[in-house]
Amino acid sequence: MKNLYEKIIQSLRRKVVNEFHRIYYYSNVWDRTYFLGKRILKCPLDLWTYQEIFFELKPDVVVECGTRFGGSAYYMARLFDWIGQGRVITIDIESHEQVEEKRPLHERITYLIGSSTDRAIVEQVRALIQPHEKVLVILDSDHSARHVLEELRLYHLLVSTGSYLIVEDTNINGHPVLPRWGAGPMEALDTFLTENQQFVVDSKREKFMMTQNPRGYLLKVK
Ligand SMILES: C[S@@+](CC[C@H](N)C(=O)[O-])C[C@H]1O[C@@H](n2cnc3c(N)ncnc32)[C@H](O)[C@@H]1O
Repeated sequence: MKNLYEKIIQSLRRKVVNEFHRIYYYSNVWDRTYFLGKRILKCPLDLWTYQEIFFELKPDVVVECGTRFGGSAYYMARLFDWIGQGRVITIDIESHEQVEEKRPLHERITYLIGSSTDRAIVEQVRALIQPHEKVLVILDSDHSARHVLEELRLYHLLVSTGSYLIVEDTNINGHPVLPRWGAGPMEALDTFLTENQQFVVDSKREKFMMTQNPRGYLLKVK
């Protein structure tokens, strides 16, 4: 009886959180969210999760696929200023001139222009990382399942054991927003997890209940 009651409460909570998620997402507030004046396309709850991970892990390098305005790269660079170490390599297919806002300059940020799945870009990223460095990777570029799966297959090799491979925007295609979007990051992640046993979904990184990256915090365990 107690079990059934708990299950009902859990399902009601999930419904409330999903409803809030949809209200939040469809308000487009994520498109007018700023960090120190820089536009950043992330949910503040996820940014707090990033902060917790970075402080615990103290990565030497974060590789980010998908720069947009550079707000997330700048946020991470400023976190690293506080932590006292760390740098960001961020990749975007669009040049600085193609985006409508000036990307921030910071000594901890290296911008690379090109497709994240272009082998020449992957090689450039590799060349910027020393073998002993602790690396965390964030995938936040083209959100089609095909592209994300290719990124997962290319970039998981860079992630250090004990570190994270974060797949952004797994919430689209009905998880719980944009149900008709088509196969996206969540579907890519599912395929990747069936072919790779080195990573597990770290659900404790979803403790704030709403995340734009459900099941997207992948911990490299071996
Ligand atoms: C969701 S935005 C990134 C948001 C940013 N990380 C933030 O949180 O503020 C996605 C970006 O991916 C870029 N993009 C799309 N396809 C790409 C590709 N094949 N390689 C690299 N970047 C790509 C787009 O130009 C866009 O700027």
